[in-house]
Amino acid sequence: MSELRQRPVASNQSHDTHAGAPTQRRRGSSSASSASSASSKSERDHDQDPVISVLDLIRVALALVVASCGLSYYMTSGESMLWGHRPWYTRWPVVVQWVRGPLSLTPPQLSLYNGSDRTLPIYLAVNGTVFDVSANPVVYGPGGSYNFFAGRDATRAFVTGCFKEDLTPDLRGVEEMFVPVDDVEELSSAQRKIRREKELREARASVEKTVRRWDGFFRNHKKYFPVGKVVVDTEEAEGETTRTLCESAQKQRPKRSQVDKNKNKGSP
Ligand code: HEM
Repeated sequence: MSELRQRPVASNQSHDTHAGAPTQRRRGSSSASSASSASSKSERDHDQDPVISVLDLIRVALALVVASCGLSYYMTSGESMLWGHRPWYTRWPVVVQWVRGPLSLTPPQLSLYNGSDRTLPIYLAVNGTVFDVSANPVVYGPGGSYNFFAGRDATRAFVTGCFKEDLTPDLRGVEEMFVPVDDVEELSSAQRKIRREKELREARASVEKTVRRWDGFFRNHKKYFPVGKVVVDTEEAEGETTRTLCESAQKQRPKRSQVDKNKNKGSP
């Protein structure tokens, strides 16, 4: 019995202990009560602290990207959503070409792509690389100011500017264009030979630079892109004799007197 009596007491006590604590706290001093409520509030606040999750970060990043695209579209009057940058994989014809793989065209095959057949793209070649220039039919299409470049590799004309005589990839002898014309002569033949070799080396470098510049122009142009290579019969190409410089390029050659004068001006 005593056990039976004790149990509820014990249970009451323990209940009291549980329930008593708040009761005691309620009964206790007001400062203790407010301290405890402050601490439990701070715990609750701590639980409710905003935690930045990865998802939040992704949301913010996405919002920034969308805002940047929108602003770029607005600022460039609808031209670009990437501030003028247009990666190649966002250009449909380039992607199609990439999937197809690079072309290998003989000069007769290349000539079909000169713009006269409107179902075909317009191609031109610089130093053996074929570029698609279909995006500019006004310039390269029939009646265009540079239609003569379409459907062929006319690298020589890109260097000399002789758009009638030099529509060929043959660059042999073209370096002469950068070699000064002798209008005064005061050196011995041996000295002249040494100077000629040096000038020829420099002239070849100038030709290379000019060709590279045009290659870069088409390669990096926002509307054109490379599509393949021209395959040339080397025997046929080597069989030709060296071409002479066209008249207009001959006229453009620098005069030695002028070159020497510029050199003296440049030297201290
Ligand atoms: C070595 C000499 C030259 C070469 C190789 C050359 C080549 C070219 C090429 C390939 C284009 C087309 C650019 C594009 O695809 O957007 C072009 C455009 C143009 N070129 Fe030349 N050019 C030369 C000299 C000149 C000269 C001397 C003039 C001026 C008298 C000139 C005036 C123009 C003009 C106005 C355009 C704009 C397109 C047009 O209205 O036809 N070029 N040039």
